[in-house]
This record gives sequence, structure tokens and C-alpha cells, in this order.
Amino acid sequence: MTLSKLSLAVLCLVLLVIGFVFGFLGGFFSHIPDTGNNLDRLQSLTKDADETISRRLIDEVNPENIRHYLKHLTSKPHMAGTPADKETADEIKRFWETEAVLDRVQIYPYDVLLSYPEQDSPNRIVIKDVNDRDLFTTQLYESILDPEQNQSDVVPPFNAFSASGEPKGDLVYVNYARVDDFIWLTESEHIDPNGKICIARYGKVFRGDKVLIAQRYGCLGMILYSDPADYVLLTNAEDVYPDSWFLPGSGVQRGNVKATFAEKYGCIGLILYSDPANYAIDDKDAVYPDSWFLPDSGVQRGTLNMEGDVLTPHYPAIKSAYRWPKNKTSLPRIPVQPIGYDDARVLLSNMTGPEVNPDWRGKLKITYRLGPGFKNRDWKTQMFIKTHTKNVTTYNVLGFIEGAIEPDRYVLLGNHRDAWVFGALDPTSGTAAMMEISRAFGVMLKTGWRPRRTIIFCSWGAEEHGIIGSREWVEYYGKMLSERAVAYINVDIAVQGNFSFRGRTMPLLHQLMFDTAKQIPNPDPDEVSAGRKTVYDTWLYRQPAVDKRGLKTGVPIIQNLGSGSDFAPFVTKAGVTAVDIAYNYDRSLGLSSYPMYHSAYETFRLVETYYDPTFAYHKAIAQYWGELGRRLADEYILPFDVIQYGVSLDGYVQSVIDNYGELMESTRTNTGLGFLKEAVTTFKEASQQFIKDLSTVDTSNPILVRMYNDVMIQIDRMFIDPNGLPGRPFMRNVIFAPSKHNSYTGSTFPGLIDSLYELDRTKTMIEEEEKGEVVKQQIAILTYFIEAAASSLRNILI
Ligand SMILES: *[C@@H]1O[C@H](CO)[C@@H](O)[C@H](O)[C@H]1NC(C)=O
Ligand SMILES: *[C@@H]1O[C@H](CO)[C@@H](O)[C@H](O)[C@H]1NC(C)=O
Ligand SMILES: *[C@@H]1O[C@H](CO)[C@@H](O)[C@H](O)[C@H]1NC(C)=O
Ligand SMILES: *[C@@H]1O[C@H](CO)[C@@H](O)[C@H](O)[C@H]1NC(C)=O
Ligand SMILES: *[C@@H]1O[C@H](CO)[C@@H](O)[C@H](O)[C@H]1NC(C)=O
Ligand SMILES: [Zn+2]
Repeated sequence: MTLSKLSLAVLCLVLLVIGFVFGFLGGFFSHIPDTGNNLDRLQSLTKDADETISRRLIDEVNPENIRHYLKHLTSKPHMAGTPADKETADEIKRFWETEAVLDRVQIYPYDVLLSYPEQDSPNRIVIKDVNDRDLFTTQLYESILDPEQNQSDVVPPFNAFSASGEPKGDLVYVNYARVDDFIWLTESEHIDPNGKICIARYGKVFRGDKVLIAQRYGCLGMILYSDPADYVLLTNAEDVYPDSWFLPGSGVQRGNVKATFAEKYGCIGLILYSDPANYAIDDKDAVYPDSWFLPDSGVQRGTLNMEGDVLTPHYPAIKSAYRWPKNKTSLPRIPVQPIGYDDARVLLSNMTGPEVNPDWRGKLKITYRLGPGFKNRDWKTQMFIKTHTKNVTTYNVLGFIEGAIEPDRYVLLGNHRDAWVFGALDPTSGTAAMMEISRAFGVMLKTGWRPRRTIIFCSWGAEEHGIIGSREWVEYYGKMLSERAVAYINVDIAVQGNFSFRGRTMPLLHQLMFDTAKQIPNPDPDEVSAGRKTVYDTWLYRQPAVDKRGLKTGVPIIQNLGSGSDFAPFVTKAGVTAVDIAYNYDRSLGLSSYPMYHSAYETFRLVETYYDPTFAYHKAIAQYWGELGRRLADEYILPFDVIQYGVSLDGYVQSVIDNYGELMESTRTNTGLGFLKEAVTTFKEASQQFIKDLSTVDTSNPILVRMYNDVMIQIDRMFIDPNGLPGRPFMRNVIFAPSKHNSYTGSTFPGLIDSLYELDRTKTMIEEEEKGEVVKQQIAILTYFIEAAASSLRNILI
């Protein structure tokens, strides 16, 4: 090889290398835009919510739309399991697909057992003379007071899941039919309701709890009526619907009477008060399998569930589900029927027996007597009840907005769709608000916005028959929700008054609920004039929280979640952080519920005339609902208040000590209390450290942020005990459950509080010892759960 050849070769090589390098670099640089995309993509993972959406979403809510949806949906009855159930499901589906334009809509049907009266042969109660002639018959239908209400498919008044039958006997008045009312009646007044028909006023506790007690005391049947004392404020008879929003004499509250809990002895509060000999409690004939009470040796295995389909307890009511025979369920065994106070007046005014004491008196202008029976001893009361159960399909409709960054994290907004009749308040005020907020989200989507996490709108079926549609869905998807749900926000009745906003939730969301209320304009013009510009201002002004010394704490009242709507399965089964909101009437008026509750008078006219003529309150609820959902779905770091959880736990312990400290000391059941307090302290310390670490988290690392978020969404899940509460396998949350003695209200530390309540009422040393052991066990269980929850906050590597 010559030099020139060598040079040429070197030159070629150099050129080649240069060419290669440039080629490579060229290729490299030609990929720069892609790399930039990746960086952009990484950056988009860490971007925080676009806060300008907040105002735009709130401004998008139009009260005229809500009025229009409400009017349309309440134009006919839409009871669960009827053709209207399917029609309204299809309508919501169509609305979400074509008006709101959500990403996806799906219907989830379930075959469940619901309960109906005979449409052509309504239930009635008759006064019979000695020759079995009818002297008086209760109204078969509510009077027509409003043209809208004149429709053939209005279901006649009935109580769902009542037994059928024609019991005949003497009447006994049992006040509100609470445990304590029956104890007073039997122990102080020496009146035995056994073999009688009892008549009770609605109010104070869930109607299913009343039936359970009545049945336990041997009543043949139960009549429930709405007393003016609880459903009318004015004594002037002219001042009821249609001339006001108070219940007229022919109005009847429908509602389901499924047992809310049943255990060894049906109702523990009762057995502990009573001499077992009087109530056949040790009588083996009166327990399962001959009745729905569990035998002494009973392990929970019947279908003793308060929520969901009675034939498929614990499991979803899908086609393949195992269904229990009907006669092994906890459905009431006695006929039950609701009536209005016009009819109740006739029955009660004819009664004989001692006059009731003042706090048992209602506001009818009669002398209230206990019975048993009528003044004319030959007259009897007979119930003609043909309520029957039926396998029907009910429909949940879910609409999805897929999250842009974390599509597998869900924020759920839900409301039930089924109503007893027109349901203009319950639940359609909520349905109309949900439609409008879903439409507003749809408008945001069209502008190019998309939330970080997935938003799911849920329209539940068959809530009125006992929280069935939502419970079945949660039973099916419970495991998945436990991994992926961020929160569930419920609205049942959006507007049941114009006094104040009402919020119920768990500690993680207290602060967010306050903050959201500060963003929503006040719908009450008088309040705005008084300088209270936001929903929060009136809420704080009219519903201030007070401490146990009666001093204002500086924030509004937030209640605990009991049961009574679709948030229940999320809280008690899956441990999902939940919220329930509404506009409420003034609770200090002493009404038992809003007066027209579950009657045929819950019409559009009622809402438009008395509740919300401008639909401003509906608008405020829709805005609040949407904004709360937006923040949970869109904020990079979840707006959960971990510190508040510790503060609340501390308060729950303190309240146990305040109410039962002496009892625990005298029964020496307080030995574990030190451990419990220590666990709460540990939790508080862990929560403080968690927040400190979170405040300095490297937000440019989306995986790290998601780790913190995941710890927070799991906190409420940490309190799910798969074994359930004592005697209540369907209630699995050890911090929150419906109160055992009134399913409408919520209690904290329910297992402990219930066992203390029962310990407090024991009569023998043996009972005391037995109940004392349950108390000690409950303290230990709580201690363990709180400790374990603290460890979940403290150290991601255990
Ligand atoms: C209800 O409607 C029916 C038929 O449409 C009519 O005959 C009846 O008079 C109406 N009743 C009332 C009270 O408006
Ligand atoms: C329960 O119902 C099944 C069929 O549905 C029947 O075979 C059985 O005899 C019933 N048991 C009782 C105790 O009534
Ligand atoms: C008693 O019942 C009869 C019908 O059976 C009814 O006409 C009457 O108004 C009722 N009240 C009184 C106080 O008699
Ligand atoms: C309930 O009814 C549906 C159809 O409405 C039917 O497919 C299903 O098999 C029925 N289930 C039971 C337990 O009867
Ligand atoms: C609405 O507010 C007014 C003024 O406070 C009150 O008189 C009225 O009873 C309220 N209406 C309802 C349905 O609560
Ligand atoms: Zn409802």
C-alpha cells in the first residue's frame, strides 16, 4: 500500500467517521422533538389541577335546566321494579350519551326481591262491629289535592316487605314504638301488646326498627301513622298542603320495613331490659328454624341484612347468584300498614284504657289512650294486607369521564333514581341536580379539559326498598373499589328545606367540605343581604358546631354517616370515604322529617311552590357537588385532611369516657383503655409526620405523589373488619356504622358503644360478666385497628 493510498484510506476513514458521527448526530437530533414529548408527557403527569375550571364549572350550572329535568322526571310515578324503572334508566343513559356526552355509559341490571301491594285491591284497616260488619274503613288512596297527582299508577299506601294477612284484635297505642316505649308500656303501665294490633306514630327511629320491636313483643300487626306533632307545625287545619308544605290528613308515608338487624335475640336492647320468662326468649320454639330469631347456638347465617337484596346477602344479585329460600330471610312476619292522621284520628279517638302521659301525646285534638281496645268493647280492628314480594329487575346506570392521568382512580357521584311515587324531593331533586352537574362537566370536556382521575356518575335503582341497587353493585365491585375508589359523594334529597346546607362525612373530608362551601354563592337572598355571601357563611351562622361545654368551635356542624341512603354500602362494606349533602329545613322546628316524605304529595308543584321557586337551592347543591367532585378528581395531591382523622379519633375516645367512664370503672372493663388512648396518640403522631413528609414531597416525581395519595385513600379502608361488628356481619367499619337502635343516625366506635349500652342494661352478675367481656374485646379490636392504620401512615416499607 502506497502513502497516497494510505492517505486516501485514512481520508475515507475520517470522512466515514465524520459522516457517521454527523449522521448519528443528525439522527440523534432529528429525535429531539420526540424526547421533548416524553419530557412534556412526564411533566403533564405532575401538573396540578387547572383552578380556572372551578369558576367555569360553577357558573355553568343553570337552575332552569334543573327545573326542566325535575318537571319531566316527576311527570309520572317511577317506583323500582316497574316499567318506569327501566324507562328512566334508559332516559338517564340517553341523557349522558347525547346531552352530557360522557365517555361511556353502562347499565347494570340486578334481579332482586322487591315488595308491592295489590294495585287493584289496596290494603285497608277496618273497624268491625260484633257482627263483623264494617263500621269504618281507612282511605284506600290519598285524596287528590293537586291535578298532577291524579294518575292511575300511583302505588296505594303500603309498607314494603310487610307480611300479608288479616289479623283482627284490640288496638294498643305504643307511641314511637321505640325499645323504651315498649318497656314503659309493659313495665310501668302493665299493658301487654302480645296478641294485639299496635298503632305507633312515625318518627324518632327508622320504621323497620319499630316493626322489629313490635314483632318481638308479640303484636299481631302494626299500624304506622304520621301524627301532626311530627309532620305539621301549625294547628290550623287550613294550613296544610296544598296551602302550605305541611302534611295533610290524608297524606301517608310509604317506606320499607325490612329488619335492620337481628341477632341471637332479635333485639339486644330489649332482652336485657326484660325478664326472659315474659318474652319466651329461652323458648326454643321461638327461634330459628321456626322463626327468624337465631337460636342460642346461632352463628350468623340467615339473610339478616338491612341493605341490599334479601335473597343474596353478602353477594351481588347476578343471574348466577345463590338465592336463599324466602322463608329463611329476616323479612317481617307481621302485617304492617301506614295511614294518614285523618284515619288515625278515628281509630285513636275510639280507644279506651288509661290516658297516655304527656310525652306520648300527639297533636290530634283527641284524648290519647293506651288501650287495649275500643270504648265499645265489641268493636275490633282488622287489617287487610296483601303486600307481596316479587322477583324483579332493577337498573343502575353509570356514566364515566375517563381520567386523563390516573384513569384507575375513581371519584363517584351518586343518587338513587327510584321513588315511591313522583318523588319530587326524594330523590328526584337530587337526580335533576346530578343531570345538570354531569352536563356542566360535559361542557368542560368540550373545551379540552379532562380531570386527572376518572369521574363516575351513578344513578342507583331500588334504594327505597332498602338500599338495593347500590349495595348489589358494591358487593360486585367491592374489591376493585377498595383498590381504586377515592371517594363517593351522595345526594339523595337535594333540597328538603331552605334553612341551611347540611353535610355528613368522615374526618378526612371535613376541611374540604368547609372549603368547598366557601366557594359556593349563597342561594338565600336575605342571607346575602345580611352579609353572608356563601353557603358556608349561613351554614356556620345557623348550624354552628359546639363543644361539650356548649361553646362554639368556629366551624359548622358536620354529622356522621348513619344509613338511610346509598352511601351506606360504600362506608360499611367497602370502607370508601363518603359524603352526603343536602339543603335542609330548620331541625329545631321538631319535625320528624320533611312533612311530605314518601307521600303522593311529593310533586313538582310542591317543590316549585314552597321549596325552591327559583331553583337556587338546587343550583347550590349541584355546584357544591360538582366542585367537591372536581377537586377530588383533579388535584394532584388529594385534598384529604389526615390530621383531622387523629383529632376525630381522640374525640370519639373522649366521648366514650364521658358517657361510659364510670360504668367502665365500676365494671372493671376499662383495663384496655390505656392501650386505646396510646393507639390514638400513635395515630396522631404518625399523621403529623405524614403531613410533614408530604409537605416536602418531590412533586416532580409523580410516582412518589401517587404513593402518598394511595396511603390517604386507604385510611378509611384500614378500618374495615372482615368479621363485621358483633351481631352485625354486614356492618364492617369499626369506626362508623348506623346506630344499632336507630338505623338513620350514625354512631362512632359502634361495636364498643353498642356493647357498653348493653352492659349498662344488664340485670344479673352473669350477664354483666358476659357483656363486660364483649366490651373488653371491642376496646382491643379498636386499639388494633387504629395502631395498624397508624403504621400504614408511618412507614411505607413497614
Ligand atoms: C282524576 O282524573 C279522572 C280521569 O282522568 C277524572 O275523572 C277525575 O275527576 C279526576 N279527579 C280529580 C280529583 O281531579
Ligand atoms: C320454605 O320454603 C320451601 C320452598 O320454598 C319449602 O320447601 C319449605 O318447606 C319451607 N319451610 C318452611 C319452614 O316453611
Ligand atoms: C269512632 O269510630 C266511628 C266509626 O266506627 C267514627 O264514626 C267516630 O268518629 C269515631 N270517633 C269517636 C270519638 O267516636
Ligand atoms: C328473576 O327474574 C328474571 C327475569 O326478570 C329471571 O331471569 C330470573 O331467573 C329470576 N330469578 C329468580 C331467582 O327467580
Ligand atoms: C323557606 O324559607 C322561609 C323563610 O325563612 C320559610 O318561612 C319557609 O318555611 C321555608 N320553606 C321551606 C319549604 O322550608
Ligand atoms: Zn331517597
